[in-house]
Amino acid sequence: MTTLTQYLKDHSSNPAINDVITTITDVGQTISQLLRKGALADILGEAGNQNVQGEEQKKLDVLANDLLLDALAKNKNCAGVASEELDDATPANADGSLLVLFDPLDGSSNIDINMAVGTIFSILPYQRQGQTCNNSDFLQAGSEQLAAGYLLYGTSTMLALTIADDVVMFSLDPDSGDYIMVNDEVKIDAETSEYSINSSNYRYWRAPMQQYIDELVAGEAGVRGRDFNTRWVAAMVGDVHRILCRGGLFTYPFDTKYAHKAGKLRLMYEANPMSLLIERAGGGATDAVNRILDIKPTDIHQRVPVVLGSQNEVDYVKQLHLEHDET
Ligand code: AHG
Ligand code: MN
Ligand code: MN
Repeated sequence: MTTLTQYLKDHSSNPAINDVITTITDVGQTISQLLRKGALADILGEAGNQNVQGEEQKKLDVLANDLLLDALAKNKNCAGVASEELDDATPANADGSLLVLFDPLDGSSNIDINMAVGTIFSILPYQRQGQTCNNSDFLQAGSEQLAAGYLLYGTSTMLALTIADDVVMFSLDPDSGDYIMVNDEVKIDAETSEYSINSSNYRYWRAPMQQYIDELVAGEAGVRGRDFNTRWVAAMVGDVHRILCRGGLFTYPFDTKYAHKAGKLRLMYEANPMSLLIERAGGGATDAVNRILDIKPTDIHQRVPVVLGSQNEVDYVKQLHLEHDET
């Protein structure tokens, strides 16, 4: 039986990363306990304000954000944090060597219906140790991430983590509070028959995405010659978890629903950490043309179209987009 503490000790050469991951997973345990109490802990419903992106904040969005922020501010290795729920980066300890980015509560619309939600995190190196960090220090490509992962608060609480070349999974034992390793090498099959998309946005997609989904829906009767199955958790953390467990294709594509947005998901604390996990598990992650991890960010809250999961489907979506763009 390998605990997270033991795993970090054995597999990481950077004690600062271990320390920050321990802080995040300790907060995850607190969030998990609050979620188990649910309505009884008075954590459901609206907080009554909006975040920087104009989205209504739920009480739990705010609570999870504050818990992470408070804990990381006390961590000497954390130079600063950036969060979905904070307008700007918040400096922590200037002497720290790490920057931490997080989506404190992913899948907010699931909170009030007792469905899966999660916390996504990304750890970047801090290049200006000794000085106070600002937004521009965070604008590093996803390929620079030193570690990434998520906590999924589902029927059980699970942690998916990458600190080296591989992806591992832990399950939180609610009795002991330990994260126990349940998978020491997560791998995604290149082939899949399962896909994940919010089809209600169909009319806003680009033509190659419409074509791709048309082909999947046509199934055995169409050019793909076999049937596909849809799954949509409405929390990226849940959909990515399913893909790490049994493969699949997840996309929140470019759409014209909101003209000023390039997609719904955020590059720095949703797409990047998930792309690192997916790639290291053998899958692919693209914005439909470019590798997500190669995108040079210009804004900590920037949005990006996301297509990730089983390699063959990701490659095919990319092929359709490239062919379309050439003509
Ligand atoms: P968040 O709750 O952090 O704002 O993220 C929600 C995201 C993502 O988790 C999920 O895949 C997607 O929004 C669901 O969007 P729809 O409501 O359009 O289905
Ligand atoms: Mn999210
Ligand atoms: Mn969120």
